[in-house]
Amino acid sequence: MSDLTGVVGSLGLEPQSEAPKGRPCVMVIFGACGDVTKRLMTPAIYNLACDGLLPEQFAIVGADILDLDTEKFRARLGDADDGIQKYHTRKQFDPKVWSWLSGRMHYVEAKDLDGYHRLADLVKKLGADYKTGGNLLFYFAVAPRFFGLISSNLYKSGFHEGDGWRHIIVEKPFGTDLKSAQELNREILSYWREDQIYRVDHYLGKETVQNILAFRFSNGMYEPMWNKNHIDNVQFNVSESVDVEGRGGYYDSSGVLRDMMQNHMFQMLAYIAMEPPASFEPDAIRNEKAKLLSAVRIFEPKEVPQNCVRGQYGPQVDGAGQVIQPGYRQEKDVNPKSNTETFAAARFFIDNWRWEGVPFYLRSGKALWKRGTEIVVQFKKAPAVLFRGTPVERLTSNRLIFHIQPYQGIEVLFQAKIPGPTLRLQTVHMKFNYGDTFRSSRYTGYEVMVYSCMNGDATLFSRTDLVEAAWRIAQPMLDSWQSTPAPVFPNYARGSWGPKAASDLIQHDGRGWYEVITPDVLARSALFRDGDELFLNAVIMALRPQVAAAGEMIITKGEIGREMYFICRGEVEVLGDGDTKILKDGDVFGEVALLLSQKRTASIRARTLCDLFVLDRNEFLRILRDNPHFAEKVTEVATKRFKVNVPAEHLIRPA
Ligand code: BG6
Repeated sequence: MSDLTGVVGSLGLEPQSEAPKGRPCVMVIFGACGDVTKRLMTPAIYNLACDGLLPEQFAIVGADILDLDTEKFRARLGDADDGIQKYHTRKQFDPKVWSWLSGRMHYVEAKDLDGYHRLADLVKKLGADYKTGGNLLFYFAVAPRFFGLISSNLYKSGFHEGDGWRHIIVEKPFGTDLKSAQELNREILSYWREDQIYRVDHYLGKETVQNILAFRFSNGMYEPMWNKNHIDNVQFNVSESVDVEGRGGYYDSSGVLRDMMQNHMFQMLAYIAMEPPASFEPDAIRNEKAKLLSAVRIFEPKEVPQNCVRGQYGPQVDGAGQVIQPGYRQEKDVNPKSNTETFAAARFFIDNWRWEGVPFYLRSGKALWKRGTEIVVQFKKAPAVLFRGTPVERLTSNRLIFHIQPYQGIEVLFQAKIPGPTLRLQTVHMKFNYGDTFRSSRYTGYEVMVYSCMNGDATLFSRTDLVEAAWRIAQPMLDSWQSTPAPVFPNYARGSWGPKAASDLIQHDGRGWYEVITPDVLARSALFRDGDELFLNAVIMALRPQVAAAGEMIITKGEIGREMYFICRGEVEVLGDGDTKILKDGDVFGEVALLLSQKRTASIRARTLCDLFVLDRNEFLRILRDNPHFAEKVTEVATKRFKVNVPAEHLIRPA
């Protein structure tokens, strides 16, 4: 047995963790030849080894139906092109750590009871060799329909007997609706006790998700305001730019409601909205989550269409009408007439004292314009009345944004006085960025799951009642979407913000989705290309999202222009006197309105559903006045590109 002392962190790349090591055990992985084991679980265990969090008394047994031996199994996971060297998440691969770990990996072909008996013998031997005290951690990386079979075989081959603990990690999906989840729970609980089962939701393994509770309950600053008296609404946005990535077979019988909302998003909802627990004990936290989920209003059938929107992405086509990327219905293993939703948005209410009347908007989808998960807590506006008689026209809401991924941080948006002799305000932000503050490696999210399970800490795992409460909320949506015809699908283009109905849902309440924008969006316009960080940030704060339906007139010829538009996604037609011109993703129009107050020279109509960012002239001029050094540049672009002569001093003269 090799000793890891002096090996981990030997490359000096990563500091070793100060946390105690996991408890001794043999870990048995079912589905050991599958993708999850290769891409996620093995890199996670390797990360734990790198951080010095695995005990010396530790071994792994892979079990699957393939005819492999231990040598081949180790070679498979250690493969240079399709194994740990590809999937590890450290800055640099450390062969010494891998050799320590892979030396403890074994394989058993387990496709019948004989196989399980051989597995039992090997596990016993390893337990004795590595002095694990009989502790066993099972990881079920298999489809839920096999949970019962594996549990029953383990039982028949005597795994429930003997010394030590038995903990079982099970993967999602945990059921496909309320009834199947209840049946699965019943089945699994006929073999194991609730406290032995660790149901994974990998979002709870994300540092930024775990930090929600730490942030809420370790700071005195926000909790007193965390209620209906101060919070106007909360938005959860989980945008994925990827499509179904070849998983059409699974996805077509799932859809985003089952795949993302019922589990990952409801877990985040529970963290944001639950009451403070009495302690950080696993059940204290899980009790509060369960209470919260059972306070979410369950829709009546007729309420589903009023509160929920679904969408499905269509193909991306080029100017000549050629399909560049397929739509959902053209994906491999997807029914060409599929009505499965790849996008969903919903408005939920939590009927308790804290949250009565506060809408919680949830939105998630595939093939959207960006990858980004954010939770936006929007506070009620301050009363504007005392600003009457000042140049301040309106106050915007304070927002607290939890950036979950890929950008990881927390941001607060608030108003600040713009330096100068008059009272003018600008929305500004304070940002905490994980990368600036903490030095830590990129994790798969599974490390903390395995580590917690080894130590018998169930905080990050779901419980029977939690899983069922979440399905209870989703069930009326599933029923309604099953029994009523889908809207005309596809109803959003690949790369867009989703269907227009999602904007309508929130606009109907007089609110809008908060879109998190990056400077590269701005760089699409010549006006902003060379802007410095300060200037671009000010512009980003001033942009507002707007959705235009196909056929809607965005600009009307002859009207005085007051805004410029970025096309985030979609197509518009410029209806001038000559040929009709088409503008699309990444194009900008109406820039002259920022420079000069004059009549629009052409009308612009949306050809498709359009996602736009709008910048108002007043805001633009205000930002220029605050960044006068940039006015010269704007003048230059105006002359060269738009043939308009706007002296810099005109742009920055007081309003
Ligand atoms: C999984 C879903 O649970 O989560 C996938 O099955 C989805 O469809 C994934 O892409 C998203 O996870 P993450 O960590 O990339 O946000």
